[in-house]
Amino acid sequence: MSIRFAIIGFGNIGRRHAGHILQNPHTQLVSVCDLNPEVQQSIPAGVSFFTDAAEMLRTIAADVLCVCTPNHLHMAHTIAGLEAGMQTVVEKPMALSVAECDKMIAAARATGKTIFAVKQNRYNPPVQEVKKLVDSGRLGKIFMIQVNCFWNRGDAYYAEGDWRGKKAKDGGCLFTQFSHFVDILYYLNGPVDSASGWVQNFAHQHNTEVEDTGSFVLKAANESIINFNFTTCAYQRNMEGSITIFAERGTVKIGGQYLNTIEYQQLEGEALPEINISAKANDYGRYQGSMSNHDKMIQNVVDALRNNMPVMTTAEEGRDVVKIIEQMYAGAIKV
Ligand SMILES: NC(=O)c1ccc[n+]([C@@H]2O[C@H](COP(=O)([O-])OP(=O)(O)OC[C@H]3O[C@@H](n4cnc5c(N)ncnc54)[C@H](O)[C@@H]3O)[C@@H](O)[C@H]2O)c1
Repeated sequence: MSIRFAIIGFGNIGRRHAGHILQNPHTQLVSVCDLNPEVQQSIPAGVSFFTDAAEMLRTIAADVLCVCTPNHLHMAHTIAGLEAGMQTVVEKPMALSVAECDKMIAAARATGKTIFAVKQNRYNPPVQEVKKLVDSGRLGKIFMIQVNCFWNRGDAYYAEGDWRGKKAKDGGCLFTQFSHFVDILYYLNGPVDSASGWVQNFAHQHNTEVEDTGSFVLKAANESIINFNFTTCAYQRNMEGSITIFAERGTVKIGGQYLNTIEYQQLEGEALPEINISAKANDYGRYQGSMSNHDKMIQNVVDALRNNMPVMTTAEEGRDVVKIIEQMYAGAIKV
């Protein structure tokens, strides 16, 4: 029997979830909820539609709820899904604070259901190659990591949704644009002990309440030093999203616009395969996001529920990523 999915929030990313649920031979889309009734026109035939989440959760029979609403609603909708007896997939960021993540984890434990945190960049082939390299111990001690996130977000992006750029609903660039990079940093190098840096809103004061640029120094629990630089002011288009690792027995840079290439490597022993994937960003029309790996995320839900395979990103890991973001904002001085 197919795994039955429901989606709450049918915007850019909700539609992407739907596409992959419809394509996967083991999954079925049974219901969609969105506050906006016009969304109903784009729902496939046979899929029920609701504008009220509580009514959908009371009415339908589904196994999994995908939470694709704006950031500030992730906690409430995830907990509602768990309490309705569904496994839940929650888009990034898992929530806007560690305290919210803790409540979500407590609800998962109380209901015996699983939270799948979406961090689809983990599936990027260059990320997987470097993950294997780091975990094998071949690199030796990691000394320093440089993370550069140089993207563009223009007025059209902020005009698309009333939550975007709002402190209480969006949280800031580290939550919305760059949490994937914080996640890959965490995935490859583990937790962070301390963070300090500077932030400023240079070019988005007319339409956002948050910073658009930041530069941080972090000390990781493994004692490596991390430089983390980000901006949404790259002129006219995304320029770079990269992570460079300087270690005892090698230097490696995952680069491209969204961690899609192995841009540089100088390693003791065998080289990593050359990887340069250029055509697979999530394209939202007026802006580009991360690599489009949501098909793999849906398949991970199938594998975990059907075959007891490990969850790619657990709720505890999603919480750890939010913790690093909190550490960074707590250590930030406004320029
Ligand atoms: N994994 C990724 O690469 C990725 C990419 C884009 C967005 N996201 C995340 O997905 C989430 C949504 O982003 P988006 O770009 O799709 O936003 P969006 O504004 O395009 O879509 C959000 C949708 O949620 C609906 N909504 C809002 N409140 C609701 C409620 N109470 N009940 C039901 N529906 C409600 C809105 O009407 C809208 O259709 C955000 O958390 C974002 O960070 C993740």
